[in-house]
Amino acid sequence: MSFGSGRHLLYIGFMEFKGTDILSAKQFNRGDIEFVLKTAQKFEKFALKEKRSDILAGKVLGSLFYEPSTRTRFSFETAMKRLGGDVVTAVGAEFSSISKGETLEDTGRVISSYADVIVMRHPHVGSTAQLADGATVPVLNAGDGTGEHPTQGFLDLFTIQKECGKIDGLTVAFVGDLKRYRAVHSLAEMLTHFNVSFVFVSPPEMKMDSAFIFKLKEKGIAFRETTRMEDALAVADVVYMTRIPKEYFSDPAEYEKFKGVYVLQRSMIENNKPNAVIMHPLPRIDEITRDVDTLPGAAYFRQTQNGVTVRMTLLSLVLGARI
Ligand code: NCD
Repeated sequence: MSFGSGRHLLYIGFMEFKGTDILSAKQFNRGDIEFVLKTAQKFEKFALKEKRSDILAGKVLGSLFYEPSTRTRFSFETAMKRLGGDVVTAVGAEFSSISKGETLEDTGRVISSYADVIVMRHPHVGSTAQLADGATVPVLNAGDGTGEHPTQGFLDLFTIQKECGKIDGLTVAFVGDLKRYRAVHSLAEMLTHFNVSFVFVSPPEMKMDSAFIFKLKEKGIAFRETTRMEDALAVADVVYMTRIPKEYFSDPAEYEKFKGVYVLQRSMIENNKPNAVIMHPLPRIDEITRDVDTLPGAAYFRQTQNGVTVRMTLLSLVLGARI
C-alpha cells in the first residue's frame, strides 16, 4: 500500500485502519492510539485463550524476517493463527530473492499476490516503507534497522496503561542506547501525545535524536537528559530498560566498552520507587539482574504476552475484521 510519511489517520475508528500500513509511530495521533488500545482490550481474552475466534480465517500473513527475532515473529504468527489465519514465512534474506538482488518494492508486489498482509523486519531504516511502495496489501513494520518498531510501541503503551491504569501524568524513563534503539523511538514518539514527562538516560554517544528533543521543546513536554540511571530511578513511574545492541557495533572493543554500562538491580528499585513499573522489549543480556524479576513492577514478561493481544488487534484492524 502506498504510504504518505507523516500521514495521520484522523479520528478515528475501524474503517480508517482497514488497508493501512503500520510503518511509523508518526502516522498516529492520540485518537488513533486510544482507539487501538481500546480495541486491544477486546482482543485480550482471545490472546489469553479464554475465548476462540476465526475472524481471520482465509487470510494469509506473509511473515518476512530478515533480522533475528523471537518475540515479534512468534507473537505475530501466533496472533494470526489464533484468529484462524495462516502464515507463510521467510526467515533470513539469504533464502529469498532479495539475495539475488530483487528490490524491496518488487518483493512487496510479489508477496501481495500470495498474502493478505505482510509483516517485515529488515536491517535497513526505511526498508518497510520501500516494501510498502510496491505492495498492494497492508505492510506492518516489525523493525527497520535503527529506525522504528511501531507495533512494539503500541504493545508497550498497552502495557503501560494496564500496569499503571493510565498514561497521562506519568514520568517515563528510557535507559540505554537511545540513539539506535528502534523500540524506544516508536514508544517515545507515541508518548508525546500524552501528558507525560521523560527522563532519558544514556552515555553521551547514545543520546536521543536531536530532532526528537527539538520536538519535545517545541511541544513544551518536560524532559531531562542524564548519564546517571539513579537520576531516573528517583522519579520514574515507568523504567524502560534496553539492551546495548551488539549488532550495530562494527568494533567489538567498542561494544565491550558500553556493555554493562547500565545494570538495574533489585535494591535500586527498592531504595527508590518500589512500585515502579519495569519494562524491557527483551531480549535482555545483563541490563536487568534476575532478582528484579520477582518484583511486582517487573512487567517485561507480561509485556511479551501483550504482544499477542496487540498484534491480533493490529492485524484485524488492517484486514478490516471485527470481533
Ligand atoms: C527488540 C527489537 O528487535 O527491536 N526486540 C523485540 O522486538 N522484542 C529489542 C531488541 O532486540 O533489543
